[in-house]
Amino acid sequence: MKFFIDTANVDEIRRANAMGVISGVTTNPSLIAKEGRDYAQTLKEIAGIVDGPISGEVKPTTEKAEDMIVEGRAIYALDPKHMVVKIPMTEEGLKAICVLSSEGIPTNCTLIFTAGQALLAARAGAAYVSPFVGRLDDISEDGLELVTMIVDIFSQYPDIQTEIIVASVRSPKHIVEAAMTGADIATVPYQVIEKMVHHPLTDAGIEKFKKDYQKVFGR
Ligand code: G3P
Repeated sequence: MKFFIDTANVDEIRRANAMGVISGVTTNPSLIAKEGRDYAQTLKEIAGIVDGPISGEVKPTTEKAEDMIVEGRAIYALDPKHMVVKIPMTEEGLKAICVLSSEGIPTNCTLIFTAGQALLAARAGAAYVSPFVGRLDDISEDGLELVTMIVDIFSQYPDIQTEIIVASVRSPKHIVEAAMTGADIATVPYQVIEKMVHHPLTDAGIEKFKKDYQKVFGR
């Protein structure tokens, strides 16, 4: 399973990229709005940092397929080597995915909460589907169970090339469980990547090595 980072904060993206662990970035309108910067400029800057797929979502005020298509082409044109157009799971969204993918523009169908939605998006031509595990867990459903179902279904139809991005990740446990399902990618907030790095025994071990070394060798 690969890691993408789920943020529009360029400092976090630079830090995660320097660790060598991320191979793509996902953003959404909430994450870009949080940064308070120009929408297109932010996406362009991110695409200049990470050499991998960068998901930029059509604006949430864009509801008709024809408008999503126009906007999707513009997002793709920001950096055709990296940009992926993120489109919400709606009937209009599926129409836009169908047209954009027929033009060779990769799409990421977002806000997936059922296996049926994932299968529809795949058949419309989405390069990626993004099931939201955390938001399902929040309402006492099982997000990882949904991912398992999508992995199982896609693996039975070799003509489906759509990759599964496990999104709305809240904890290191989510990530390990996602990897065990065989999902292609997990998109992870920076804070969760940081949590994954640490273990109390690792941190205590580093401290002990330092103390023992300094007792004999000084600084
Ligand atoms: O980028 C989509 C998704 O990862 C959002 O996560 O935490 O807002 O449910 P969250």
